[in-house]
Amino acid sequence: MTARADLPLPEGEEKRRVVRGLFDAISGRYDLVNRVMTLGMDMGWRRRAVRELRLPGRSLVLDLACGTGDLCRELQRGGYLAVGFDFSHGMLAEATTTAPLVEADVLRLPLRHANADGVTCGFALRNVVDLASFFDEIARVIRPGGRIALLDASRPDNSMLRAGHGFYFSRVVPVIGGLLSNPTAYAYLPRSMAYLPPAEEMLEMLRTAGFADAMRLQLSGGITQLLVGTRM
Ligand SMILES: C[S@@+](CC[C@H](N)C(=O)[O-])C[C@H]1O[C@@H](n2cnc3c(N)ncnc32)[C@H](O)[C@@H]1O
Repeated sequence: MTARADLPLPEGEEKRRVVRGLFDAISGRYDLVNRVMTLGMDMGWRRRAVRELRLPGRSLVLDLACGTGDLCRELQRGGYLAVGFDFSHGMLAEATTTAPLVEADVLRLPLRHANADGVTCGFALRNVVDLASFFDEIARVIRPGGRIALLDASRPDNSMLRAGHGFYFSRVVPVIGGLLSNPTAYAYLPRSMAYLPPAEEMLEMLRTAGFADAMRLQLSGGITQLLVGTRM
């Protein structure tokens, strides 16, 4: 993993290489750091994402950028058939889910058109090289009437919460991540928030991709956002 905290954020093929290397490097302690730095709230956010799918039992749901499989497990608990996709071999090797996992780039899924009933994605929107292409790829593989629930970090609207969260995310998270795992990686992760477009822009991209009713839910005071929608 070669992203230095003082360098500009990588783009294009370099971003893809850096992101994959980063998650390979932190995979062993990824779950532990997540639980500690979110004070365990991350599991509740994933449960909420699964609830918002509102699909019939045994629907096929693709968890894109599945990492170590936390969302796959929640999907299975919710009665869905889950399949995970991720391009980090290290993250997949640490996975603790019985769902089938596929090593693949989520921008080029090895799937037929309109194959899935639903798609989830946890905390990876800012990691893909081209977000609009990612939304197009989701729209390609999901059937009409299928549902999406996409999570990522966010900044609270309330100015006090925003300041506190900004301090925690940019100052405390790198220290926790550095102590428990990899200092370079956890210095990069807060910076990667700069990749995430404003909420209205992401909603517009989703509507253009084919999710006309796309909407955004703010979780835990706005530190996490959940984009949901239906494939038209
Ligand atoms: C922050 S982790 C999230 C993992 C998991 N979804 C969760 O909720 O904990 C981001 C994941 O996105 C994966 N990822 C990023 N870009 C990807 C891409 N283009 N194709 C496949 N996986 C990707 C990384 O390998 C990493 O496992």
